[in-house]
Amino acid sequence: MYDDNVTLSGVKKEIDESRQGQVLYFDQPDSGQKRFYIESYGCAMNFSDSEIVASILAGEGYGPTRDMETADLILVNTCSIREKAEDTVRNRLNVFNQLKKKKPDLLIGVLGCMAERLKAKLLEQEKLVDIVVGPDAYRDLPNLLVKADDGQKGINVLLSREETYADISPLRLDSNGIVAFISIMRGCDNMCSFCVVPFTRGRERSRDTFSIVAEARDLYDRGFREVTLLGQNVDSYKWASPDGEIHVNFAQLLERVAQVHPDLRIRFSTSHPKDITDEVLYTMARYENICKYIHLPVQSGNSRILDLMNRTYDRDWYMERITSIYRIMPDCAISSDMIAGFCTETEAEHQDTISMIKYARYSMSYMFFYSERPGTLAAKKLLDDIPLEIKKRRLQEIVDTQVNMSLEVNLLDVGKVFKVLIEGDSKRSDMEFKGRNSQNKMINFPKKEGLRAGEYTWVKVTSATSGSLRGMIVDES
Ligand code: SAH
Ligand code: SF4
Ligand code: F3S
Repeated sequence: MYDDNVTLSGVKKEIDESRQGQVLYFDQPDSGQKRFYIESYGCAMNFSDSEIVASILAGEGYGPTRDMETADLILVNTCSIREKAEDTVRNRLNVFNQLKKKKPDLLIGVLGCMAERLKAKLLEQEKLVDIVVGPDAYRDLPNLLVKADDGQKGINVLLSREETYADISPLRLDSNGIVAFISIMRGCDNMCSFCVVPFTRGRERSRDTFSIVAEARDLYDRGFREVTLLGQNVDSYKWASPDGEIHVNFAQLLERVAQVHPDLRIRFSTSHPKDITDEVLYTMARYENICKYIHLPVQSGNSRILDLMNRTYDRDWYMERITSIYRIMPDCAISSDMIAGFCTETEAEHQDTISMIKYARYSMSYMFFYSERPGTLAAKKLLDDIPLEIKKRRLQEIVDTQVNMSLEVNLLDVGKVFKVLIEGDSKRSDMEFKGRNSQNKMINFPKKEGLRAGEYTWVKVTSATSGSLRGMIVDES
């Protein structure tokens, strides 16, 4: 009945689950050049990492291809967040292995979170995998490839306390040339009891502020108009210059990136309710080009469950953050992640998640049912005792409530005029553009001569569904 990941499509955000398994490519390589093919799963961090991997491989003379049949190297950048995510990757490995049987020289590599979680087990379980590389070991890829070419298995799953790939300029794969991710930190020091990320991505570390600002400036100069600053918990960004003279927190980083150019939009993901400060909110309010949109995953609306999840905030704290966001930025949109059927959750506690959707008035949410992950605190200490049918029923109730809320908040936009960054042709027609407003809502509207993707225009909303808005171009409001 359900997919593992239930996403409200239409009002898509940067971590767009429809991109799961997307083949990333850019210009075709020269003939004679070695080719790599890469598929990415999971969160935006993984997609961003694939661009770092592409850059490292380009340095080794590998060019990208979108056709796996022509590849010398097939890579799959994997996700472990839920069981289903791992199942998908195993199925893909079977497909790649069929190809390898026909073409024994082909190398197959597993990257990312599953590589880190399963380590050498992956080489044992999946006999035809040649290399296994964890998220902090991509610089070692060239060595591992040499090893694999010699017929040995290559594995490096060392996690690092320092690696941020700050000096590697990502090769923008499959890019529209308008929006891009910038990774600002890696790892996570929170220990949410359901979550595998601290084990697959290691300790939290922040990237050099100056390299982030330089990357944003370079993207702007190359025509990009929107950057999304990425981290598992961006609000705990903290960087100090080696001489200790300069200290930069997330609010200050946002300000520095916003100052690159007023026409460069800034987004960020993910914010943690315990760490998002008023300083961040006031900085957002001060800069028109910092988008009025916050992804603030609640996970559960109930304080007892939040405590079991080790989220370190309770319902009241979360509600206060929501109130502050709307007080400081009345036009801000907020989205969330929610987990249905966490260990020991009662019906009444589940209802607290439903009521939180109504309180927070989320514009959209990513909604999941709980999937126990080996090695996590919850797997060790709590009983995964909610039957699957109940998890699914609760998830459906959450989804239904969110769909109604998305429609309700979107209908309030009808008649309003928004500044929209044109991203390209709409899905439905090449007579229409698509673009997002500051609140991250996708708007489709008829084209006007002289306007191109990458430019801003003003759009009056004429109708809304739970997933997207429609409108028409108007003169500046
Ligand atoms: N760092 C982000 C979350 C990254 S994982 C944050 O703290 O919000 C993305 C989402 O996957 C989480 O917000 C959570 O809702 C979901 N998730 C993580 N582990 C899960 C699990 N074991 N079962 C179901 N959903 C899970
Ligand atoms: Fe996982 Fe929690 Fe870290 Fe997010 S903040 S990555 S949910 S441990
Ligand atoms: Fe998945 Fe790893 Fe991201 S587990 S969600 S790819 S950090």
